[in-house]
Amino acid sequence: MEDYKEASQAAEADSQKDRWVKVRVPGTSANCGPGFDCLGVACTIYNELELKLLPEKKLVIEVSGDGAGNIPTDERNIVWRSIQKLLVKAGKDKEYQGAMIRMHNDVPLSRGLGSSATAIVGGLKAANEYLGNPFSRRDLLQMATDIEGHPDNVAPAIFGGFTVSIVRNGKPECFSLMPRLNIKLVVAVPDFFLPTKAARAVLPTEVSMQDAVFNIGRAAMLTAALCKGNKSFLRSVFDDALHQPYRAKLIPGMYDVFKAAKSAGALGASMSGAGPCLIAFTVDNPEAVGEAMCQAFKANKVEACYHVFDIDSQGAVAIK
Ligand code: HSE
Repeated sequence: MEDYKEASQAAEADSQKDRWVKVRVPGTSANCGPGFDCLGVACTIYNELELKLLPEKKLVIEVSGDGAGNIPTDERNIVWRSIQKLLVKAGKDKEYQGAMIRMHNDVPLSRGLGSSATAIVGGLKAANEYLGNPFSRRDLLQMATDIEGHPDNVAPAIFGGFTVSIVRNGKPECFSLMPRLNIKLVVAVPDFFLPTKAARAVLPTEVSMQDAVFNIGRAAMLTAALCKGNKSFLRSVFDDALHQPYRAKLIPGMYDVFKAAKSAGALGASMSGAGPCLIAFTVDNPEAVGEAMCQAFKANKVEACYHVFDIDSQGAVAIK
Protein backbone atom coordinates (compact mmCIF):
# COMPACT_ATOMS: atom_id res chain seq x y z
CA MET A 1 0.00 0.00 0.00
CA GLU A 2 2.84 2.37 0.99
CA ASP A 3 4.67 1.53 -2.26
CA TYR A 4 1.57 2.36 -4.23
CA LYS A 5 1.17 5.71 -2.42
CA GLU A 6 4.80 6.68 -3.05
CA ALA A 7 4.57 5.70 -6.71
CA SER A 8 1.40 7.70 -7.21
CA GLN A 9 2.93 10.75 -5.47
CA ALA A 10 6.00 10.50 -7.71
CA ALA A 11 3.76 10.21 -10.78
CA GLU A 12 1.80 13.27 -9.61
CA ALA A 13 5.06 15.24 -9.12
CA ASP A 14 6.23 14.20 -12.59
CA SER A 15 2.98 15.25 -14.21
CA GLN A 16 3.20 18.62 -12.41
CA LYS A 17 6.71 19.10 -13.81
CA ASP A 18 5.43 18.64 -17.32
CA ARG A 19 2.22 20.60 -16.89
CA TRP A 20 1.22 23.23 -19.42
CA VAL A 21 -1.78 25.53 -19.39
CA LYS A 22 -3.30 27.07 -22.49
CA VAL A 23 -5.45 30.19 -22.73
CA ARG A 24 -7.24 32.06 -25.50
CA VAL A 25 -7.73 35.84 -25.44
CA PRO A 26 -9.85 37.92 -27.84
CA GLY A 27 -8.59 40.97 -29.70
CA THR A 28 -10.45 44.14 -28.78
CA SER A 29 -11.49 47.47 -30.21
CA ALA A 30 -11.38 50.38 -27.79
CA ASN A 31 -13.16 53.75 -27.71
CA CYS A 32 -16.02 52.70 -30.08
CA GLY A 33 -16.13 56.35 -31.23
CA PRO A 34 -17.12 58.60 -28.30
CA GLY A 35 -15.88 56.40 -25.42
CA PHE A 36 -12.24 57.50 -25.33
CA ASP A 37 -10.37 55.35 -22.79
CA CYS A 38 -13.60 53.88 -21.37
CA LEU A 39 -15.61 51.87 -23.96
CA GLY A 40 -14.41 48.68 -25.63
CA VAL A 41 -15.62 45.57 -27.38
CA ALA A 42 -14.19 42.04 -27.64
CA CYS A 43 -13.90 40.67 -31.20
CA THR A 44 -13.94 37.10 -32.47
CA ILE A 45 -10.24 37.11 -33.35
CA TYR A 46 -7.90 35.42 -30.89
CA ASN A 47 -4.37 34.98 -29.63
CA GLU A 48 -3.47 31.71 -27.91
CA LEU A 49 -0.83 31.26 -25.25
CA GLU A 50 0.66 28.16 -23.63
CA LEU A 51 2.61 28.40 -20.40
CA LYS A 52 4.76 26.15 -18.27
CA LEU A 53 6.33 27.75 -15.19
CA LEU A 54 9.86 26.73 -14.26
CA PRO A 55 11.62 26.76 -10.88
CA GLU A 56 14.90 27.82 -12.49
CA LYS A 57 15.82 31.21 -14.03
CA LYS A 58 15.24 30.20 -17.63
CA LEU A 59 13.04 31.88 -20.22
CA VAL A 60 12.04 30.28 -23.52
CA ILE A 61 9.55 32.22 -25.63
CA GLU A 62 8.30 31.02 -29.01
CA VAL A 63 6.09 33.25 -31.15
CA SER A 64 4.18 32.18 -34.24
CA GLY A 65 1.65 34.08 -36.36
CA ASP A 66 1.41 37.85 -36.41
CA GLY A 67 4.41 39.66 -34.97
CA ALA A 68 6.73 36.64 -35.05
CA GLY A 69 10.21 38.12 -35.43
CA ASN A 70 9.11 41.54 -34.09
CA ILE A 71 8.15 40.58 -30.54
CA PRO A 72 11.00 40.46 -27.97
CA THR A 73 11.60 36.94 -26.67
CA ASP A 74 13.70 37.94 -23.66
CA GLU A 75 13.04 39.60 -20.28
CA ARG A 76 11.39 42.58 -22.04
CA ASN A 77 8.52 40.42 -23.31
CA ILE A 78 5.21 41.85 -22.04
CA VAL A 79 3.64 38.41 -21.51
CA TRP A 80 6.52 37.43 -19.25
CA ARG A 81 6.44 40.77 -17.40
CA SER A 82 2.70 40.28 -16.78
CA ILE A 83 3.30 36.72 -15.52
CA GLN A 84 5.98 38.03 -13.16
CA LYS A 85 3.59 40.66 -11.79
CA LEU A 86 1.04 37.99 -10.93
CA LEU A 87 3.67 35.68 -9.43
CA VAL A 88 4.86 38.49 -7.14
CA LYS A 89 1.26 39.22 -6.05
CA ALA A 90 0.73 35.53 -5.34
CA GLY A 91 4.04 35.28 -3.42
CA LYS A 92 5.24 32.64 -5.92
CA ASP A 93 8.06 34.53 -7.63
CA LYS A 94 10.76 32.61 -5.72
CA GLU A 95 9.13 29.26 -6.47
CA TYR A 96 8.82 30.03 -10.18
CA GLN A 97 11.68 32.09 -11.61
CA GLY A 98 11.36 31.15 -15.27
CA ALA A 99 8.92 29.96 -17.89
CA MET A 100 8.36 28.38 -21.25
CA ILE A 101 5.85 30.39 -23.29
CA ARG A 102 4.37 29.58 -26.68
CA MET A 103 2.30 32.30 -28.31
CA HIS A 104 0.24 32.04 -31.45
CA ASN A 105 -1.07 35.42 -32.58
CA ASP A 106 -3.88 36.13 -35.00
CA VAL A 107 -4.47 39.68 -33.70
CA PRO A 108 -2.40 42.06 -35.84
CA LEU A 109 0.33 43.95 -34.00
CA SER A 110 0.12 47.73 -33.45
CA ARG A 111 -3.01 48.21 -35.54
CA GLY A 112 -5.61 49.14 -32.91
CA LEU A 113 -7.00 45.68 -32.14
CA GLY A 114 -5.63 45.43 -28.62
CA SER A 115 -2.58 43.25 -29.32
CA SER A 116 -0.76 44.53 -26.23
CA ALA A 117 -3.87 43.96 -24.07
CA THR A 118 -4.14 40.36 -25.31
CA ALA A 119 -0.49 39.81 -24.37
CA ILE A 120 -0.96 41.27 -20.87
CA VAL A 121 -4.25 39.47 -20.23
CA GLY A 122 -2.88 36.25 -21.75
CA GLY A 123 0.11 36.28 -19.41
CA LEU A 124 -2.02 37.04 -16.34
CA LYS A 125 -4.76 34.54 -17.20
CA ALA A 126 -2.28 31.74 -17.94
CA ALA A 127 -0.25 32.33 -14.76
CA ASN A 128 -3.44 32.50 -12.68
CA GLU A 129 -4.67 29.25 -14.23
CA TYR A 130 -1.28 27.63 -13.57
CA LEU A 131 -1.49 28.53 -9.88
CA GLY A 132 -5.05 27.18 -9.56
CA ASN A 133 -6.86 30.52 -10.01
CA PRO A 134 -6.06 32.36 -6.75
CA PHE A 135 -7.21 35.65 -8.34
CA SER A 136 -10.65 36.69 -9.61
CA ARG A 137 -11.25 38.35 -12.99
CA ARG A 138 -11.60 41.67 -11.14
CA ASP A 139 -8.13 41.17 -9.65
CA LEU A 140 -6.80 40.48 -13.14
CA LEU A 141 -8.49 43.68 -14.36
CA GLN A 142 -6.64 45.65 -11.68
CA MET A 143 -3.27 44.12 -12.56
CA ALA A 144 -3.84 44.49 -16.32
CA THR A 145 -4.92 48.14 -15.97
CA ASP A 146 -1.86 48.89 -13.85
CA ILE A 147 0.33 47.53 -16.65
CA GLU A 148 -1.56 48.99 -19.66
CA GLY A 149 -2.37 52.36 -18.06
CA HIS A 150 -6.08 52.39 -19.05
CA PRO A 151 -8.77 49.70 -18.90
CA ASP A 152 -10.60 50.07 -22.22
CA ASN A 153 -8.78 47.21 -24.04
CA VAL A 154 -7.95 44.94 -21.12
CA ALA A 155 -11.55 44.95 -19.79
CA PRO A 156 -13.15 43.37 -22.91
CA ALA A 157 -10.12 41.06 -23.27
CA ILE A 158 -10.88 39.72 -19.76
CA PHE A 159 -14.68 39.82 -19.65
CA GLY A 160 -15.74 39.69 -23.31
CA GLY A 161 -18.76 41.63 -24.65
CA PHE A 162 -19.12 45.38 -24.89
CA THR A 163 -17.54 46.94 -21.82
CA VAL A 164 -17.79 50.23 -19.99
CA SER A 165 -14.87 50.91 -17.65
CA ILE A 166 -13.85 53.66 -15.30
CA VAL A 167 -10.93 54.09 -12.91
CA ARG A 168 -11.67 55.45 -9.43
CA ASN A 169 -8.74 56.24 -7.13
CA GLY A 170 -6.57 53.93 -9.21
CA LYS A 171 -9.15 51.10 -9.02
CA PRO A 172 -10.82 50.05 -12.29
CA GLU A 173 -14.52 49.19 -12.39
CA CYS A 174 -16.12 47.62 -15.42
CA PHE A 175 -19.31 46.06 -16.60
CA SER A 176 -19.76 43.96 -19.66
CA LEU A 177 -22.91 43.48 -21.71
CA MET A 178 -23.94 41.67 -24.85
CA PRO A 179 -25.94 44.04 -27.09
CA ARG A 180 -29.50 43.07 -27.87
CA LEU A 181 -28.72 43.33 -31.57
CA ASN A 182 -26.69 41.13 -33.87
CA ILE A 183 -23.98 43.71 -34.49
CA LYS A 184 -21.19 42.83 -36.89
CA LEU A 185 -17.84 44.53 -36.47
CA VAL A 186 -16.19 45.34 -39.80
CA VAL A 187 -12.54 46.20 -39.32
CA ALA A 188 -10.52 47.74 -42.16
CA VAL A 189 -6.81 47.08 -41.63
CA PRO A 190 -4.50 49.49 -43.52
CA ASP A 191 -1.01 48.32 -44.43
CA PHE A 192 0.92 50.47 -41.95
CA PHE A 193 1.63 50.42 -38.20
CA LEU A 194 0.71 53.19 -35.79
CA PRO A 195 2.11 52.76 -32.28
CA THR A 196 -0.33 53.85 -29.57
CA LYS A 197 2.37 56.09 -28.08
CA ALA A 198 2.56 58.10 -31.32
CA ALA A 199 -1.25 58.31 -31.55
CA ARG A 200 -1.49 59.55 -27.95
CA ALA A 201 1.29 62.10 -28.48
CA VAL A 202 -0.89 64.17 -30.85
CA LEU A 203 -3.74 64.57 -28.33
CA PRO A 204 -4.40 67.86 -26.54
CA THR A 205 -4.05 68.06 -22.76
CA GLU A 206 -7.30 70.02 -22.46
CA VAL A 207 -10.60 69.96 -24.37
CA SER A 208 -13.55 72.35 -24.52
CA MET A 209 -16.77 71.95 -22.55
CA GLN A 210 -18.60 71.77 -25.89
CA ASP A 211 -16.53 68.81 -27.08
CA ALA A 212 -16.86 67.05 -23.71
CA VAL A 213 -20.65 67.40 -23.84
CA PHE A 214 -20.66 66.16 -27.46
CA ASN A 215 -18.96 62.92 -26.35
CA ILE A 216 -20.74 62.34 -23.04
CA GLY A 217 -24.15 62.33 -24.73
CA ARG A 218 -23.06 59.98 -27.50
CA ALA A 219 -21.24 57.54 -25.21
CA ALA A 220 -24.27 57.36 -22.93
CA MET A 221 -26.72 56.97 -25.81
CA LEU A 222 -24.54 54.34 -27.49
CA THR A 223 -24.49 52.25 -24.29
CA ALA A 224 -28.22 52.65 -23.68
CA ALA A 225 -29.11 51.81 -27.30
CA LEU A 226 -26.95 48.66 -27.20
CA CYS A 227 -28.61 47.56 -23.94
CA LYS A 228 -32.06 48.08 -25.42
CA GLY A 229 -31.17 46.85 -28.91
CA ASN A 230 -32.42 50.08 -30.41
CA LYS A 231 -30.97 50.31 -33.91
CA SER A 232 -32.33 53.73 -34.85
CA PHE A 233 -30.55 55.45 -31.93
CA LEU A 234 -27.27 53.86 -33.00
CA ARG A 235 -27.17 55.83 -36.25
CA SER A 236 -25.79 59.00 -34.70
CA VAL A 237 -23.65 57.90 -31.78
CA PHE A 238 -20.28 56.77 -33.15
CA ASP A 239 -18.86 60.26 -33.73
CA ASP A 240 -16.20 61.77 -31.50
CA ALA A 241 -14.72 65.17 -30.75
CA LEU A 242 -12.07 64.26 -28.18
CA HIS A 243 -9.44 62.25 -30.04
CA GLN A 244 -10.31 61.44 -33.67
CA PRO A 245 -10.05 65.01 -35.03
CA TYR A 246 -6.44 65.19 -33.76
CA ARG A 247 -5.50 61.73 -34.99
CA ALA A 248 -7.08 62.07 -38.46
CA LYS A 249 -3.79 63.37 -39.91
CA LEU A 250 -2.14 60.05 -38.99
CA ILE A 251 -4.63 57.99 -41.06
CA PRO A 252 -5.00 59.20 -44.67
CA GLY A 253 -8.66 59.29 -45.77
CA MET A 254 -10.07 58.43 -42.33
CA TYR A 255 -13.26 60.47 -42.65
CA ASP A 256 -13.76 59.25 -46.26
CA VAL A 257 -13.65 55.67 -44.95
CA PHE A 258 -16.25 56.49 -42.27
CA LYS A 259 -18.48 58.06 -44.92
CA ALA A 260 -18.09 55.07 -47.26
CA ALA A 261 -19.00 52.65 -44.45
CA LYS A 262 -22.17 54.57 -43.66
CA SER A 263 -23.14 54.88 -47.33
CA ALA A 264 -22.80 51.08 -47.61
CA GLY A 265 -25.26 50.64 -44.73
CA ALA A 266 -23.22 50.76 -41.51
CA LEU A 267 -24.76 52.34 -38.42
CA GLY A 268 -21.52 54.24 -37.84
CA ALA A 269 -17.75 53.97 -37.88
CA SER A 270 -14.80 55.08 -35.81
CA MET A 271 -11.11 54.53 -35.20
CA SER A 272 -10.41 51.16 -33.60
CA GLY A 273 -8.59 52.17 -30.44
CA ALA A 274 -5.71 54.45 -31.37
CA GLY A 275 -5.82 53.19 -34.99
CA PRO A 276 -4.76 52.74 -37.69
CA CYS A 277 -7.58 50.13 -38.06
CA LEU A 278 -10.98 51.69 -38.62
CA ILE A 279 -14.11 49.88 -37.45
CA ALA A 280 -17.68 50.01 -38.71
CA PHE A 281 -20.65 48.80 -36.67
CA THR A 282 -23.35 47.28 -38.81
CA VAL A 283 -26.35 44.99 -38.71
CA ASP A 284 -26.70 44.72 -42.49
CA ASN A 285 -24.34 43.90 -45.38
CA PRO A 286 -21.01 43.62 -43.54
CA GLU A 287 -19.17 42.47 -46.67
CA ALA A 288 -20.38 45.47 -48.68
CA VAL A 289 -19.34 47.76 -45.81
CA GLY A 290 -15.86 46.21 -45.73
CA GLU A 291 -15.45 46.53 -49.51
CA ALA A 292 -16.54 50.18 -49.40
CA MET A 293 -14.07 50.95 -46.60
CA CYS A 294 -11.17 49.41 -48.51
CA GLN A 295 -12.14 51.26 -51.69
CA ALA A 296 -12.16 54.56 -49.79
CA PHE A 297 -8.73 53.78 -48.34
CA LYS A 298 -7.51 52.93 -51.84
CA ALA A 299 -8.77 56.27 -53.19
CA ASN A 300 -6.46 57.80 -50.57
CA LYS A 301 -3.53 55.66 -51.74
CA VAL A 302 -3.68 53.27 -48.77
CA GLU A 303 -3.87 49.51 -49.28
CA ALA A 304 -6.19 47.82 -46.81
CA CYS A 305 -7.99 44.55 -46.20
CA TYR A 306 -11.00 43.96 -43.98
CA HIS A 307 -12.33 41.40 -41.51
CA VAL A 308 -15.86 40.83 -40.26
CA PHE A 309 -16.09 39.84 -36.59
CA ASP A 310 -18.88 39.09 -34.14
CA ILE A 311 -18.73 40.31 -30.55
CA ASP A 312 -16.93 37.72 -28.40
CA SER A 313 -19.02 36.97 -25.30
CA GLN A 314 -16.48 35.04 -23.20
CA GLY A 315 -13.28 37.04 -22.93
CA ALA A 316 -10.11 35.22 -21.86
CA VAL A 317 -10.65 31.50 -21.26
CA ALA A 318 -8.55 28.46 -20.44
CA ILE A 319 -8.72 25.84 -23.17
CA LYS A 320 -7.77 22.17 -23.26
N1 HSE B 1 -8.05 54.39 -25.54
C1 HSE B 1 -6.76 54.17 -26.10
C2 HSE B 1 -6.41 55.30 -27.04
C3 HSE B 1 -6.77 52.87 -26.84
O1 HSE B 1 -7.30 55.70 -27.80
O2 HSE B 1 -5.30 55.81 -27.00
C4 HSE B 1 -5.43 52.45 -27.30
O3 HSE B 1 -4.75 51.75 -26.31
